[in-house]
Amino acid sequence: MISTKISKMIYGGDYNPEQYDRDTMHEDIRMFKKANIDFVRVNIFAWATSQKDEVTYDFTWLDEVIDTLYDNGIQVGIGTGTAAHPAWMAKKYPDILRTEFDGKKRKFGGRHNSCPNSLTYRKYASLFVGKLVAHYQDHPAVLLWNISNEWGGACYCENCEKEFRVWLKKRYQSLDNVNRAWNTSFWGHTFYDWDEIVTPNLLSEHFGERQTMFQGISLDYARFNSDSMLECHKMEYELIKKSIPETIVTTNIMGAYKPLDYQKWAPYMDVIAWDNYPSMNTPVSYTAMMHDLMRGLKNGEPFMLMEQTPSQQNWQPYNSLKRPGVMRLWSYQAVAHGSDSVLFFQMRRSRGACEKFHGAVIEHVGHENTRVFREVAELGEELIQLNDRLLDSRVTAKAAIVFDWDNWWSVEYSSGPSIALKYVDEVHKYYKALFDQNIQVDMVSVEADLTQYEVVIAPVLYMVKPGYAKKIEEFVENGGTFLTTFFSGIVDENDLVTLGGYPGELRKVLGIWSEEIDALPPEHSNKIVTEKEYGNLKGTYTCNLLFDLIHSEGAEVIAMYGEDFYQGRPVVTMNKFGKGQAWYIASSPDSSFLADLMNGIAEEKGIKNEITANKHGIEITKRTKGDKVFIFVLNHNHESVRVELPGISGVNLLTKRNVVESIELGSFDAAIIEQE
Ligand code: GLA
Ligand code: ZN
Repeated sequence: MISTKISKMIYGGDYNPEQYDRDTMHEDIRMFKKANIDFVRVNIFAWATSQKDEVTYDFTWLDEVIDTLYDNGIQVGIGTGTAAHPAWMAKKYPDILRTEFDGKKRKFGGRHNSCPNSLTYRKYASLFVGKLVAHYQDHPAVLLWNISNEWGGACYCENCEKEFRVWLKKRYQSLDNVNRAWNTSFWGHTFYDWDEIVTPNLLSEHFGERQTMFQGISLDYARFNSDSMLECHKMEYELIKKSIPETIVTTNIMGAYKPLDYQKWAPYMDVIAWDNYPSMNTPVSYTAMMHDLMRGLKNGEPFMLMEQTPSQQNWQPYNSLKRPGVMRLWSYQAVAHGSDSVLFFQMRRSRGACEKFHGAVIEHVGHENTRVFREVAELGEELIQLNDRLLDSRVTAKAAIVFDWDNWWSVEYSSGPSIALKYVDEVHKYYKALFDQNIQVDMVSVEADLTQYEVVIAPVLYMVKPGYAKKIEEFVENGGTFLTTFFSGIVDENDLVTLGGYPGELRKVLGIWSEEIDALPPEHSNKIVTEKEYGNLKGTYTCNLLFDLIHSEGAEVIAMYGEDFYQGRPVVTMNKFGKGQAWYIASSPDSSFLADLMNGIAEEKGIKNEITANKHGIEITKRTKGDKVFIFVLNHNHESVRVELPGISGVNLLTKRNVVESIELGSFDAAIIEQE
């Protein structure tokens, strides 16, 4: 349960009344009520509004805002405001400013702009948050605390350089260990003193964001940067929890955001809250995967959709309007994957600066007679009707996809075999194959307990951390189906190659040896020619990107390459190991291959969805709560569709109509069927 203070889906979003006069605020609140909004997030970027100099803290304006909201039945998420430091602070204490990847020291400007290792920043942030907590800890309007906002970016300043050395000492104890972990005998890099270690950026090891000459140091810097921001976050988290242990503290995060290892952050978020900004052509399966990744951070507990735009963004190259119905549909998509809130950025458009053309519940015209407002109000009404029915219900899955930030960083820092290899894209291919068959997926870390799953897929598991191969072996021995791909089992947690043949520690469970790895430009492909029929898998498919040249060491060869000098050598293998199976896909296959393979695996493992959608663009998920089962049917198509739902009957909670084994859904429509 997100909070005992809620009795329905939380509905509302970011509100910045510090940008307007009070009359406007009163008018806004009148409209919020009309739109059935019951929660807003305030004070997100208002540090400078409340603290005009080093010693003056004045929350009068915020008191008025929060009291007025409360009097009108609206709860607040109170931002700690530390995502943008005041200008006077930057002028007085330039050490709070960040240094960029190219070594350029920044001046005041932008947001998310503080050096995470600046002691000055930490001092003033904790002073400010301390005052805020003392002031609002007993305020009945406060539903939750939102630390900062979208922590992110990186800093390469001297503070950070010094702290990096401290971080390294803690991780490695001795310089010898560092030298070993980074393989510094390469290119004469041996370090004899800690002070010789500098930040890896364009002034040192890098010649591009992804291009480094020393993977070890770059990987550790990525970890260090994520940890540094986490330290700032933890500082605020602990400060708030110390005074108000029972309150909810979170921060809004960003899905598959590369710089921060959210799996390490999750313990310091009482509820996962995330900002979802797909563009018009983002595949719906990708958005679904992001929701599942976020849900996975806290083992399936309900999360919060903290931000989405009601209509358009301002920061994409082409900021398309959400077509009529799409805002509602994507809101329910979040709920279908486990969200217990529907929240927007932003409640009212800014008058100036870069977000003035970002969509809002209240547009520049300033009244409620707009398409966007009407859609928001209608959805608000539906959420009231839904009441507490869905709250705290769970999405469960029998299939898991492994996602690991360290692995992501190291795959993409790798010099060779191919610059076209993108970790998240490969993961998404496998996710999509399951998604298209409406098979629910948990996105899990390498820490996750695998025993609850029938199928575990780890695309491009390049880095195998200590103990993980053993975990996979046990999973397969006990009857699980494991699947991994090319470029897996290559390195340890320090990006040092596991010697003795790829895929290293996974070799035994997979029953193969990969001798060489070919890489071709993405437009070149090879053929996958099936050797044995498996489920729907038969005939010929294509593959591209990387091509492992493997030898079976006991695995059954399911398919072979159809072309090139390695024609006739295995490309798909399946190893029987204990009671289970371990699959290896040696290249990046086309979607029809993955559809057929996943169909076969799902069939064999009994994890097929009883209801298979009969049309492309229909998404079906399930949330359960006790003996209650809720089936979500989402029509991502512009056209109306009749969806067959064999075995499903109940009430569509959104129309209150009975559904018997099929439903007609209009353009971008959604249904939530409470099963009988
Ligand atoms: C992010 C931020 C918001 C706002 C939106 C705009 O999610 O958290 O403050 O800038 O983007 O899309
Ligand atoms: Zn710094």
